Amino acid sequence: MDRRPIGVFDSGLGGLTALRELARMMPEEDLVYFGDTGRVPYGGRSTDTIIRYAQQDVAFLNTFQPKAIVIACGTVSSTALETLRREWAIPIFGVVEPAARAAAQCTQNKKVGLIGTQASIRSGAYERALSALDPKVEVLTQACPLFVPLVENGRYKVGDIVVETVAAEYLQPMKEQGIDTLMLGCTHYPLLREVIARYMGEDVSLVDVGGQCARWVTDQLTARGLRTDKQGRGARRYFVSDSPEGFCRLASVFLGEDVADRVEQIDITVY
Ligand code: DGL
Repeated sequence: MDRRPIGVFDSGLGGLTALRELARMMPEEDLVYFGDTGRVPYGGRSTDTIIRYAQQDVAFLNTFQPKAIVIACGTVSSTALETLRREWAIPIFGVVEPAARAAAQCTQNKKVGLIGTQASIRSGAYERALSALDPKVEVLTQACPLFVPLVENGRYKVGDIVVETVAAEYLQPMKEQGIDTLMLGCTHYPLLREVIARYMGEDVSLVDVGGQCARWVTDQLTARGLRTDKQGRGARRYFVSDSPEGFCRLASVFLGEDVADRVEQIDITVY
Protein backbone atom coordinates (compact mmCIF):
# COMPACT_ATOMS: atom_id res chain seq x y z
CA MET A 1 0.00 0.00 0.00
CA ASP A 2 1.38 3.40 -0.98
CA ARG A 3 -0.42 6.73 -0.78
CA ARG A 4 2.07 8.78 -2.77
CA PRO A 5 0.91 10.25 -6.11
CA ILE A 6 1.72 8.99 -9.60
CA GLY A 7 3.63 11.47 -11.77
CA VAL A 8 2.73 11.62 -15.46
CA PHE A 9 4.37 13.74 -18.14
CA ASP A 10 4.36 14.55 -21.83
CA SER A 11 5.66 17.33 -24.06
CA GLY A 12 2.15 18.78 -24.15
CA LEU A 13 -1.44 17.69 -23.79
CA GLY A 14 -1.13 14.33 -25.62
CA GLY A 15 -0.23 12.55 -22.40
CA LEU A 16 -3.72 13.32 -21.13
CA THR A 17 -4.84 10.36 -23.26
CA ALA A 18 -2.84 8.17 -20.85
CA LEU A 19 -3.84 10.15 -17.76
CA ARG A 20 -7.51 9.79 -18.61
CA GLU A 21 -7.12 6.00 -18.74
CA LEU A 22 -5.07 5.95 -15.52
CA ALA A 23 -7.81 7.95 -13.79
CA ARG A 24 -10.47 5.59 -15.14
CA MET A 25 -8.64 2.46 -14.01
CA MET A 26 -7.37 3.79 -10.68
CA PRO A 27 -9.82 6.57 -9.73
CA GLU A 28 -8.65 6.72 -6.13
CA GLU A 29 -5.00 7.45 -6.99
CA ASP A 30 -3.59 11.01 -6.80
CA LEU A 31 -2.20 12.06 -10.19
CA VAL A 32 0.21 14.90 -10.97
CA TYR A 33 0.52 15.79 -14.66
CA PHE A 34 3.20 17.90 -16.31
CA GLY A 35 2.84 19.05 -19.94
CA ASP A 36 5.91 20.84 -21.30
CA THR A 37 3.78 23.19 -23.38
CA GLY A 38 6.52 25.80 -23.59
CA ARG A 39 8.81 23.41 -25.49
CA VAL A 40 6.38 21.18 -27.39
CA PRO A 41 6.90 19.49 -29.86
CA TYR A 42 9.82 17.30 -28.79
CA GLY A 43 9.57 14.98 -31.79
CA GLY A 44 11.72 16.99 -34.21
CA ARG A 45 14.53 17.58 -31.70
CA SER A 46 17.87 15.82 -31.26
CA THR A 47 18.30 12.84 -28.94
CA ASP A 48 20.44 14.93 -26.54
CA THR A 49 17.82 17.66 -26.27
CA ILE A 50 14.97 15.19 -25.70
CA ILE A 51 16.97 13.48 -22.94
CA ARG A 52 17.79 16.83 -21.28
CA TYR A 53 14.15 17.94 -21.38
CA ALA A 54 13.00 14.56 -20.03
CA GLN A 55 15.52 14.77 -17.16
CA GLN A 56 14.06 18.14 -16.16
CA ASP A 57 10.49 16.83 -16.46
CA VAL A 58 11.26 13.92 -14.13
CA ALA A 59 13.18 16.18 -11.71
CA PHE A 60 10.12 18.44 -11.47
CA LEU A 61 7.69 15.56 -10.88
CA ASN A 62 10.07 14.10 -8.32
CA THR A 63 9.44 17.14 -6.08
CA PHE A 64 6.03 15.52 -5.36
CA GLN A 65 7.78 12.35 -4.17
CA PRO A 66 5.80 10.13 -6.51
CA LYS A 67 5.65 6.35 -6.14
CA ALA A 68 6.01 5.95 -9.90
CA ILE A 69 6.47 8.03 -13.03
CA VAL A 70 4.65 7.42 -16.29
CA ILE A 71 6.29 8.74 -19.45
CA ALA A 72 3.06 9.43 -21.34
CA CYS A 73 5.04 10.31 -24.46
CA GLY A 74 6.18 8.04 -27.28
CA THR A 75 9.09 10.32 -28.12
CA VAL A 76 10.58 10.33 -24.61
CA SER A 77 9.77 6.65 -24.02
CA SER A 78 11.60 5.61 -27.16
CA THR A 79 14.54 7.99 -26.67
CA ALA A 80 15.22 8.47 -22.96
CA LEU A 81 13.65 5.62 -20.95
CA GLU A 82 16.88 3.74 -20.23
CA THR A 83 18.73 6.93 -19.21
CA LEU A 84 15.94 7.96 -16.86
CA ARG A 85 15.73 4.50 -15.30
CA ARG A 86 19.47 4.57 -14.62
CA GLU A 87 19.19 7.97 -12.92
CA TRP A 88 16.13 7.47 -10.70
CA ALA A 89 15.36 4.72 -8.21
CA ILE A 90 11.55 4.90 -8.49
CA PRO A 91 9.67 2.81 -11.08
CA ILE A 92 9.48 4.60 -14.45
CA PHE A 93 7.06 3.28 -17.07
CA GLY A 94 7.14 4.07 -20.79
CA VAL A 95 4.62 3.43 -23.55
CA VAL A 96 6.69 1.34 -25.99
CA GLU A 97 6.69 -2.07 -24.34
CA PRO A 98 2.97 -2.38 -23.51
CA ALA A 99 2.02 -1.03 -26.94
CA ALA A 100 4.28 -3.50 -28.72
CA ARG A 101 2.73 -6.33 -26.73
CA ALA A 102 -0.78 -5.23 -27.69
CA ALA A 103 0.13 -4.90 -31.38
CA ALA A 104 1.82 -8.32 -31.46
CA GLN A 105 -1.31 -9.87 -29.99
CA CYS A 106 -3.63 -8.00 -32.31
CA THR A 107 -2.10 -8.60 -35.74
CA GLN A 108 -3.30 -11.57 -37.78
CA ASN A 109 -1.47 -10.96 -41.05
CA LYS A 110 1.77 -9.87 -39.26
CA LYS A 111 1.78 -6.49 -40.99
CA VAL A 112 1.83 -3.72 -38.42
CA GLY A 113 1.96 -0.02 -39.17
CA LEU A 114 3.63 2.44 -36.81
CA ILE A 115 3.10 6.18 -36.88
CA GLY A 116 4.98 8.49 -34.54
CA THR A 117 7.16 11.54 -34.29
CA GLN A 118 10.45 11.75 -36.18
CA ALA A 119 12.40 10.96 -33.00
CA SER A 120 10.27 7.91 -32.16
CA ILE A 121 10.64 6.48 -35.66
CA ARG A 122 14.37 7.29 -35.73
CA SER A 123 14.94 5.46 -32.42
CA GLY A 124 13.71 2.10 -33.77
CA ALA A 125 12.46 1.32 -30.24
CA TYR A 126 8.97 0.12 -31.23
CA GLU A 127 10.35 -2.16 -33.95
CA ARG A 128 12.90 -3.66 -31.55
CA ALA A 129 10.20 -4.33 -28.96
CA LEU A 130 7.89 -5.89 -31.56
CA SER A 131 10.54 -8.08 -33.14
CA ALA A 132 11.61 -9.35 -29.69
CA LEU A 133 8.01 -10.47 -29.16
CA ASP A 134 7.43 -11.85 -32.65
CA PRO A 135 10.26 -11.80 -35.23
CA LYS A 136 7.78 -12.58 -38.02
CA VAL A 137 6.01 -9.24 -37.66
CA GLU A 138 6.81 -6.78 -40.44
CA VAL A 139 6.67 -3.15 -39.27
CA LEU A 140 5.93 -0.31 -41.68
CA THR A 141 6.82 3.07 -40.25
CA GLN A 142 5.80 6.64 -41.00
CA ALA A 143 6.89 9.80 -39.17
CA CYS A 144 4.04 12.33 -38.92
CA PRO A 145 5.63 15.62 -37.83
CA LEU A 146 2.55 17.74 -38.52
CA PHE A 147 0.17 15.77 -36.29
CA VAL A 148 1.35 17.10 -32.90
CA PRO A 149 1.21 20.82 -33.82
CA LEU A 150 -2.24 20.26 -35.34
CA VAL A 151 -3.56 18.58 -32.19
CA GLU A 152 -1.97 21.19 -29.89
CA ASN A 153 -3.88 23.80 -31.92
CA GLY A 154 -7.17 21.98 -31.57
CA ARG A 155 -7.22 20.72 -35.19
CA TYR A 156 -8.10 17.06 -34.77
CA LYS A 157 -11.78 16.69 -35.63
CA VAL A 158 -13.42 14.78 -38.48
CA GLY A 159 -14.46 17.25 -41.19
CA ASP A 160 -11.37 19.46 -40.69
CA ILE A 161 -10.03 19.51 -44.25
CA VAL A 162 -6.48 20.35 -43.16
CA VAL A 163 -6.08 17.44 -40.77
CA GLU A 164 -7.86 15.02 -43.11
CA THR A 165 -5.55 15.97 -46.00
CA VAL A 166 -2.43 15.57 -43.85
CA ALA A 167 -3.67 12.23 -42.50
CA ALA A 168 -4.37 10.88 -46.00
CA GLU A 169 -0.87 11.79 -47.15
CA TYR A 170 0.80 10.10 -44.17
CA LEU A 171 -1.39 6.99 -44.11
CA GLN A 172 -1.84 6.16 -47.80
CA PRO A 173 1.32 3.99 -48.15
CA MET A 174 0.34 1.84 -45.15
CA LYS A 175 -3.18 1.44 -46.38
CA GLU A 176 -1.85 0.27 -49.74
CA GLN A 177 0.49 -2.24 -48.07
CA GLY A 178 -2.45 -3.91 -46.30
CA ILE A 179 -1.53 -3.57 -42.63
CA ASP A 180 -4.17 -4.95 -40.24
CA THR A 181 -2.90 -3.15 -37.11
CA LEU A 182 -1.78 0.44 -36.72
CA MET A 183 0.13 1.61 -33.66
CA LEU A 184 -0.61 5.20 -32.75
CA GLY A 185 2.95 5.60 -31.46
CA CYS A 186 2.46 9.07 -30.03
CA THR A 187 0.12 9.92 -27.18
CA HIS A 188 -1.29 12.89 -29.10
CA TYR A 189 -2.67 10.64 -31.83
CA PRO A 190 -5.70 9.16 -30.02
CA LEU A 191 -7.22 12.62 -30.39
CA LEU A 192 -7.01 11.97 -34.15
CA ARG A 193 -8.47 8.49 -33.72
CA GLU A 194 -11.67 9.15 -35.61
CA VAL A 195 -9.89 10.81 -38.53
CA ILE A 196 -7.37 7.97 -38.72
CA ALA A 197 -9.97 5.19 -38.27
CA ARG A 198 -12.17 6.59 -41.04
CA TYR A 199 -9.27 6.77 -43.45
CA MET A 200 -7.86 3.31 -42.64
CA GLY A 201 -11.23 1.55 -42.61
CA GLU A 202 -12.73 -0.89 -40.17
CA ASP A 203 -10.39 -3.79 -41.05
CA VAL A 204 -7.47 -2.01 -39.40
CA SER A 205 -7.22 -2.13 -35.59
CA LEU A 206 -5.73 0.89 -33.86
CA VAL A 207 -3.43 0.48 -30.85
CA ASP A 208 -3.44 3.47 -28.50
CA VAL A 209 -0.04 3.52 -26.78
CA GLY A 210 -1.19 5.68 -23.85
CA GLY A 211 -4.16 3.44 -23.08
CA GLN A 212 -2.00 0.30 -23.23
CA CYS A 213 0.55 1.93 -20.96
CA ALA A 214 -2.15 2.87 -18.41
CA ARG A 215 -3.32 -0.75 -18.30
CA TRP A 216 0.22 -1.97 -17.76
CA VAL A 217 0.95 0.58 -15.02
CA THR A 218 -2.26 -0.41 -13.23
CA ASP A 219 -1.26 -4.09 -13.33
CA GLN A 220 2.30 -3.34 -12.23
CA LEU A 221 1.33 -1.14 -9.28
CA THR A 222 -1.21 -3.72 -8.17
CA ALA A 223 1.29 -6.58 -8.46
CA ARG A 224 3.94 -4.62 -6.52
CA GLY A 225 1.50 -3.69 -3.73
CA LEU A 226 1.84 0.01 -4.55
CA ARG A 227 -1.86 0.92 -4.83
CA THR A 228 -3.32 3.43 -2.41
CA ASP A 229 -5.80 2.39 0.27
CA LYS A 230 -7.51 5.81 0.13
CA GLN A 231 -11.19 5.84 -0.77
CA GLY A 232 -12.99 8.20 -3.14
CA ARG A 233 -11.64 10.18 -6.06
CA GLY A 234 -7.94 11.02 -5.94
CA ALA A 235 -6.59 14.56 -6.42
CA ARG A 236 -5.62 15.69 -9.93
CA ARG A 237 -3.08 18.46 -10.42
CA TYR A 238 -1.82 19.80 -13.72
CA PHE A 239 1.32 21.80 -14.45
CA VAL A 240 2.46 23.38 -17.70
CA SER A 241 5.54 25.36 -18.76
CA ASP A 242 3.68 27.98 -20.80
CA SER A 243 0.53 30.02 -20.25
CA PRO A 244 -2.19 27.61 -19.04
CA GLU A 245 -4.91 29.14 -21.24
CA GLY A 246 -4.82 26.93 -24.35
CA PHE A 247 -4.05 23.84 -22.31
CA CYS A 248 -7.00 24.47 -19.97
CA ARG A 249 -9.42 24.83 -22.85
CA LEU A 250 -8.39 21.66 -24.68
CA ALA A 251 -7.77 19.63 -21.52
CA SER A 252 -11.23 20.49 -20.18
CA VAL A 253 -12.86 19.36 -23.44
CA PHE A 254 -10.78 16.25 -23.59
CA LEU A 255 -11.12 15.20 -19.95
CA GLY A 256 -14.79 16.16 -19.85
CA GLU A 257 -14.42 18.38 -16.79
CA ASP A 258 -13.28 21.93 -16.11
CA VAL A 259 -9.63 21.78 -14.99
CA ALA A 260 -8.92 25.54 -15.13
CA ASP A 261 -8.55 25.96 -11.36
CA ARG A 262 -6.12 23.04 -11.15
CA VAL A 263 -3.58 24.10 -13.80
CA GLU A 264 -0.44 25.98 -12.76
CA GLN A 265 2.45 27.35 -14.77
CA ILE A 266 6.00 26.53 -13.70
CA ASP A 267 9.51 27.32 -14.94
CA ILE A 268 10.84 23.92 -16.04
CA THR A 269 14.32 25.29 -16.83
CA VAL A 270 15.21 25.54 -13.12
CA TYR A 271 14.99 21.76 -12.62
N1 DGL B 1 2.93 13.03 -27.15
C1 DGL B 1 4.30 13.03 -27.65
C2 DGL B 1 4.63 11.63 -28.12
O1 DGL B 1 3.98 10.70 -27.67
C3 DGL B 1 4.44 14.14 -28.64
C4 DGL B 1 5.85 14.37 -29.00
C5 DGL B 1 6.19 15.73 -29.48
O2 DGL B 1 6.16 16.63 -28.66
O3 DGL B 1 6.57 15.87 -30.64
O4 DGL B 1 5.52 11.38 -28.88
